[in-house]
Amino acid sequence: MASSALIRIISLATCSVVLVVAAAGSGGNFYEDVDITWGDGRGQILRHGRLITLSLDKYSGSGFQSKNYYLFGRMDMQIRLISGDSAGTVTTFYLSSDTQNTEQTSTHDEIDFEFLGNASGSPYTLQTNIYTQGMGNREMQFELWFDPTKHFHTYSILWNPKHIIFLVDGTPIRDFRNMESKGVAFPDQKPMRVYSTLWDGEDWATMGGRVKTDWSKAPFVASYRNFTVDACVVVDDADSHSGCNSSNFGWWNQELDSESWRKMRRVQRGHMIYNYCDDASRFPQGLPPEC
Ligand SMILES: *[C@@H]1O[C@H](CO)[C@@H](O)[C@H](O)[C@H]1NC(C)=O
Ligand SMILES: *[C@@H]1O[C@H](CO)[C@@H](O)[C@H](O)[C@H]1NC(C)=O
Ligand SMILES: *[C@@H]1O[C@H](CO)[C@@H](O)[C@H](O)[C@H]1NC(C)=O
Repeated sequence: MASSALIRIISLATCSVVLVVAAAGSGGNFYEDVDITWGDGRGQILRHGRLITLSLDKYSGSGFQSKNYYLFGRMDMQIRLISGDSAGTVTTFYLSSDTQNTEQTSTHDEIDFEFLGNASGSPYTLQTNIYTQGMGNREMQFELWFDPTKHFHTYSILWNPKHIIFLVDGTPIRDFRNMESKGVAFPDQKPMRVYSTLWDGEDWATMGGRVKTDWSKAPFVASYRNFTVDACVVVDDADSHSGCNSSNFGWWNQELDSESWRKMRRVQRGHMIYNYCDDASRFPQGLPPEC
């Protein structure tokens, strides 16, 4: 489905370069920005496009995806996570290139926020991950330092040619740098859509799968609002990001200054519960080069 949408866009495009639009619908309207693509009514756009609720029950989860493909950008989403016993559930906000067939999947790029539920309600585990050329295994996990089920909080991905920075309420928690010069693939070729889903991951999500989903608590509901995108919109994949540069996008050359870096280190020291770069047992051949 996603690939046919891309083909439709390409056939409509009149020129063979990427068209750039800055932040159409900033603080956006979900009717304009996304399609609910999964869940048979379990995902709903409400309040004239200002709110989406995703729900999960025994039979299905639900999800939505952006209408546009992006190649670099800053994406912010406000999310309120499932309250109470959310064990087994996985709520996501991520970017992914197309995965319509095995060839695309085996080389796809992905930038993930995944929220793993907890039987006691808290703390919620936030897992971040990055796939490049189909290869993931780059998990970093944090325990959120606030109750993400009480209020909306802002989760952001800043993706430019040199960095992928994950932020929570404006505080950077992870900075994945472009190390192509050291042979580490970086997502900079394939356009990606924004996705959000709510699904059942009881095989692994909570205490490594030991705590299962309690379906008597269903339906589980997560809410999304104020999706804000400032990004290169790809209208035609014939060329790369030729129309996007630092003169039209403030985030193009953005990186962490020393104060932001210190803030990130503070979060990592205080709240990081897993870092693949510290998990030597998982990489008997040696840690990945970016570590
Ligand atoms: C919506 O999100 C943007 C970007 O994160 C932020 O600047 C703005 O304050 C938010 N608006 C509301 C009403 O929360
Ligand atoms: C769930 O919360 C408990 C504390 O109530 C904590 O010990 C446990 O690690 C949490 N589990 C996950 C998967 O976050
Ligand atoms: C930057 O992008 C703008 C808008 O697409 C374009 O007009 C300008 O020529 C570009 N500048 C450079 C240095 O590529």
